[in-house]
Amino acid sequence: MKILIDTANVEQIREMYDSGVICGATTNPTLIAREGRAFGETIREILDIFGDEALVFAEAVSLESGKMVEEARELAKLSPKIVVKIPMCMEGLKAVRALSREGISTAVTLVFSPAQALLAASAGAAFVAPFVGRLDDIGADGLGVVKDICDIFKAQNSSTQVLCASLKQPYQVEQVAKAGAGYATIPYGALKMCFEHPLSAQGIDMFMDDWAKLQKEIADK
Ligand code: E4P
Repeated sequence: MKILIDTANVEQIREMYDSGVICGATTNPTLIAREGRAFGETIREILDIFGDEALVFAEAVSLESGKMVEEARELAKLSPKIVVKIPMCMEGLKAVRALSREGISTAVTLVFSPAQALLAASAGAAFVAPFVGRLDDIGADGLGVVKDICDIFKAQNSSTQVLCASLKQPYQVEQVAKAGAGYATIPYGALKMCFEHPLSAQGIDMFMDDWAKLQKEIADK
């Protein structure tokens, strides 16, 4: 499963890119607004962090298909790394269909059911983004939706990729990986938690202490 970071904060993106575990970043209007900077400036700075192989997701904010297409064309001009996020609605899928004919890569976001994912794939989306955490937050089965989408895409031999989103905890990352999702985008805090385990920290301390004791014993001989 390919990992992306779910933030528009360039310092967090740089830190995680340098760690070697992410292949890109996803943004949305809320994440962009949280940084308080102009959209274009932020996206350009994020693009500069990554090499050519990366994926940077930037969301269209129009709600009419023609305007979404215009926004997407402008975003696509910034870099081949750009994937344009389009919200799951009829106008959005009209835009996805048009953009797929122009070779512009799209991700249909705010997906909450396998039926929505099926329609998005049918429209030509390169990615669908089921929001696991938001489904779990209302007592629905976010993982179950991801599993069903993965099963359907496999049964249909679909080329559309599943980008799991709205992930809050490491266990959700583990579960969507088990379900066969190809991509997961993880917020900075949850990604940090994925690195950490108390036994790892404890083991490192023990190894270092024992190594230091040995060096002292050798030095004291
Ligand atoms: C992808 O970038 C999605 O917009 C994002 O994961 C949504 O996360 P949230 O449900 O925490 O807002």
